[in-house]
Amino acid sequence: MKKISIVINADDRLGHISPEIYGHFSEHLGRCIYNGIYVGENSPIPNTDGIRNDIIEAFRNIKAPVFRWPGGCFAEEYHWQDGIGEKALRRKIVNTNWGGVTEDNSFGTHEFMRFCELVGCKPYINVNVGSGSVREMSEWIEYMTSDAESPLTEQRKKNGRAEPWKLEYLGVGNENWGCGGNMRPEYYADVYKRYQTFCHNYSGNRLYRIACGPSSADYNWTEVMMKNLDSNNVDAIDLHYYTMPVWPEMDSATDFDDELYYKTIAAANFSDELITRHSEIMNRYDPEKKIGLVIGEWGCWHKVEEGTNPGFLYQQNTMRDAIVAAIELNVFNRHSDRVVMANLAQAVNVLQSVILTEDDKMIKTPTYHVFDLFKTHQNNEAVYCYTQNENMSEGKNAPMISVSASVNEKSMTVTAANCSLTEEAAVECSIFGFKASSVSCRILTNEAHSYNDFDCPDRVSITEHTAVIKDNVLKLNIPPCAVVECVVD
Ligand code: AHR
Repeated sequence: MKKISIVINADDRLGHISPEIYGHFSEHLGRCIYNGIYVGENSPIPNTDGIRNDIIEAFRNIKAPVFRWPGGCFAEEYHWQDGIGEKALRRKIVNTNWGGVTEDNSFGTHEFMRFCELVGCKPYINVNVGSGSVREMSEWIEYMTSDAESPLTEQRKKNGRAEPWKLEYLGVGNENWGCGGNMRPEYYADVYKRYQTFCHNYSGNRLYRIACGPSSADYNWTEVMMKNLDSNNVDAIDLHYYTMPVWPEMDSATDFDDELYYKTIAAANFSDELITRHSEIMNRYDPEKKIGLVIGEWGCWHKVEEGTNPGFLYQQNTMRDAIVAAIELNVFNRHSDRVVMANLAQAVNVLQSVILTEDDKMIKTPTYHVFDLFKTHQNNEAVYCYTQNENMSEGKNAPMISVSASVNEKSMTVTAANCSLTEEAAVECSIFGFKASSVSCRILTNEAHSYNDFDCPDRVSITEHTAVIKDNVLKLNIPPCAVVECVVD
């Protein structure tokens, strides 16, 4: 048993935890949309307007705040006009990025907006810069958000939607340093400025413009963006960082040894350094923090499951992934002064999914349960949290405990992960600036390789956990490989 001391000071506020930090990403990739979220109106699987009811319910339960769509790299070849109007007449295309399969465009703007309405979340639409045009983008914005009389708004009405939708989040390009056109940052900054000029705010709608941000540790990209853009023309930039402990060979999602486990944990913790360093660059140009940092794609990227289409990026999801999710979400909370949104890649059946489906069956992955444990942080104020927490022994390049804390007028939420595979943590958490009277905790724990599958959907699930509060000190034991949420009143 290892003693861990934590100090939380609720008087020391770090930033507002934007609910969007708990966001998701849904691309036309593999079985994320088709045979995932969307099964069509005529499916025997219970659905509302073609969208699976069990999936709607699952995302409502974790208070999913925002979904990014239609990609990803797919967005850079997506032409929105293909995805509206009568379904039988919609233009079919080849999904060149993901498996070369035929995309029938039966899930388009109306279907995505309906999905967001049903889940109760905000849409985040990523427009096509690499192979699209300014006109195409500006007409899409008009189609979605204007209530003025125009051929485009008439078309929307004819397609069944009288009122404009509210659209806040607009991504202007995806990975324009790669699949979005292989651009240099200087070139993209100019292209971005041109595009954003035509991002009009119609009928009281206010767009929040998100520019393509860096890949991982490409600090030069951030430098060039910040030098060339300002808060008049951009609201946020979008960093992408995947946890890929064995690149480019890739590791198995379920078959890994202890060394690889700890390598994965270290790779997840790297996001703290990444965000710190990108933020330092942003702080030099934007000390008032008007420009946000979005982490538009994050999560574990493993080898695809055997026998599945390599272009579909389908992988299982273990307790190792759950620990990674907890580390990342704690990092985002602690950086909530700059991080305004994050989107796990991806929501259903792709990469580090929260949901997997097989025909009419649906399971919640360990990562789903982490989002459940963290949901009370949404809209709280992140507070200072110090952990006496040296790196785990034997060259494991990561601290044993990952933690973040937040408060609202009534309660404090503390989330912690014990990343050790062997050692239990005896945690003593001294709380200052908040009167702690009672506590209730929940825990997700199991052996690192364990996962949920269609035969055993609840092998990894949340249970109650014991903790005590005395003299404003929260005491609890956290078993190895576990994620805990404590709500203190
Ligand atoms: O999430 C899968 C892909 O990873 C996305 O399409 C792309 O943006 C990123 O490289």
